[in-house]
Formats: sequence, C-alpha cells, structure tokens
Amino acid sequence: MRDPIETLLREHAGIMGQVAELRRAVRDLGERGDAAVGEALPVLRSVGRMMETDLARHARKEDEALFPALEAIFGSEGTPTQVMRREHEAIHARAALYRETVRELHEVEHPAIARQGGAVRTLAARGGSAAEIHRSAEEVIRILDEHFGKEEAILFPMARQVLGPEALARIAGRMEEIEVEARR
Ligand SMILES: [Fe+2]
Ligand SMILES: [Fe+2]
Repeated sequence: MRDPIETLLREHAGIMGQVAELRRAVRDLGERGDAAVGEALPVLRSVGRMMETDLARHARKEDEALFPALEAIFGSEGTPTQVMRREHEAIHARAALYRETVRELHEVEHPAIARQGGAVRTLAARGGSAAEIHRSAEEVIRILDEHFGKEEAILFPMARQVLGPEALARIAGRMEEIEVEARR
C-alpha cells in the first residue's frame, strides 16, 4: 500500500520546489525593483497556475480524504479498545487542540490559499508594479510556509499516530480517486 502521508509530503516538496522560483523572484524584485518585473511575471503566472491545479488538488486530498478520517477520531467520543485507549491517551487529551488545528487548516487556510491563487493569477495577467508583485509573492510564500509547516509539524505526525493501516488504506484509495478525477 502506498502511504498517503508520504504522498502528501512528496506533494509538499514538489510544490515548494516551484515556490523556490518565486523566492528567487522576490529577492530579485527587492534588489532590482522595476527592472525585475519582466522576469517576475512569468514566475508569478506559473505559480498562480500551480496553486489552482497541483495545490488545489493536494488540498482536496486533505480536505476530502485525510481530514475526515482525523475528524472521525478526534470528533467522536467512541469507545476504543483498552490498548488503543492507552496508546492514544495523550493524543485524546489534546483532542481539542487537534480538532481546532484540523478545522483551521480545512476551513480557514485552504480557502485563503485558494483566494491568494486567484489574486496571483489576476496580478500576473494585468501586470503590476514591482512593489505590488513583491507583496503578493511574499504573501504566497508566507501562507505556504506557515500552512505546510503546521501540517508537517502537527497534523501529519498526529495522523501517523492515530490512523491504523485500514484507515490509511482508505485514505490512500480516496486520494487516488481524486487524482483520477482531476486528470479527466
Ligand atoms: Fe493543506
Ligand atoms: Fe498539505
């Protein structure tokens, strides 16, 4: 079975690889100002496209496959077996924090990322001043660094702790369906 968390981490790395170009563009805009706009716009355009395709698909996998599986655990007051209960005691004690983290990623940050993708596309299409492009690119980088950081530091490790092989297999299956749907 493919580990769905590994898949999501690999996608983070791929997306951040594309964002690396944007970091260079931001540095360039800072150093050369308007002279760097011509080179920055195509980068902005391709990152905007990436946010609306690769990144949107990635977020869908989390929203529709991973998060519901975690919500099913942290949101329910079920009666797991004694062993599970002991194992997960520490985690369940922090369930409120985790629930809040999932909610934030799901309902606040993903929509914010989607909005920023739209803003970048608009800016790339109409052009803009060095300052404007700089601001927008920095916002994308900030949002993604923070969001991926939170997922990698909190959400993914906790998913690994609480999800059993069956849940992971279900998540992987659902993620593959999303992948197929997106490619149609
Ligand atoms: Fe995410
Ligand atoms: Fe993610």
